[in-house]
Amino acid sequence: MLKRGKVFVNNTWNKVIYKIWSPIYDSIFKGLFFNVRKQIFNEISFKKEDKILFVGVGTGADIELIDHDNLDITAIDFSPDMLNKARAKFNISSVNFLEMDAQDMNFKNESFDYVFAHLVLSVVPNADKCFQEMVRVLKPEGKIIIFDKFAPKNKQLSLPKKLLRPIIGILGTDIGLNFEKIYYRNNQKLKIEEDVPAMLNGMYRKIIIRKI
Ligand SMILES: C[S@@+](CC[C@H](N)C(=O)[O-])C[C@H]1O[C@@H](n2cnc3c(N)ncnc32)[C@H](O)[C@@H]1O
Repeated sequence: MLKRGKVFVNNTWNKVIYKIWSPIYDSIFKGLFFNVRKQIFNEISFKKEDKILFVGVGTGADIELIDHDNLDITAIDFSPDMLNKARAKFNISSVNFLEMDAQDMNFKNESFDYVFAHLVLSVVPNADKCFQEMVRVLKPEGKIIIFDKFAPKNKQLSLPKKLLRPIIGILGTDIGLNFEKIYYRNNQKLKIEEDVPAMLNGMYRKIIIRKI
């Protein structure tokens, strides 16, 4: 269970919240994050044989930006409503959409070359478990690409963020998650290749991690 400020969130709550978000998610958020997503995918050259996993794929805004018909893509989400939105976009393509909990994935160890976690660590009830699962299913030399908002490094959350955190938490995401704590608890066999500000003065970051 994730504690967002003073608010506790679990899978059941997230399912309800993302059912509500699903019809309006793209109209609110697709444009907002478009440039960052585009930049992330511009910098990656997928090989045809790469196995790619999208964790908490949502409405599939990432998949729209890549050559999905010619790639081996698996995409999981816990919300059937968000998944249905994604499925409707790609129903004739070969994307394998699965309803699955990112904290307890039903994949063998070392299955994927790329694991994308865009705006999901800040949403799942237990970000540690989700991160551990991403590492487990990643092949050696594979990459985890994270795009998400985190608490500032080596700094307290500002007072406005502290006050807003529980309210935004109820709406389905955490603005106070500390990435460094998650990483250093689980960083065996990992190397951070890139950790750069992506949006809003570094509140959103792009982080690329390689499994060594
Ligand atoms: C903020 S949305 C991000 C969606 C997408 N990755 C994007 O970049 O637009 C968070 C997504 O995480 C999903 N999610 C929440 N808890 C989850 C869990 N335990 N396992 C898998 N997905 C989950 C939600 O249903 C939602 O689709």
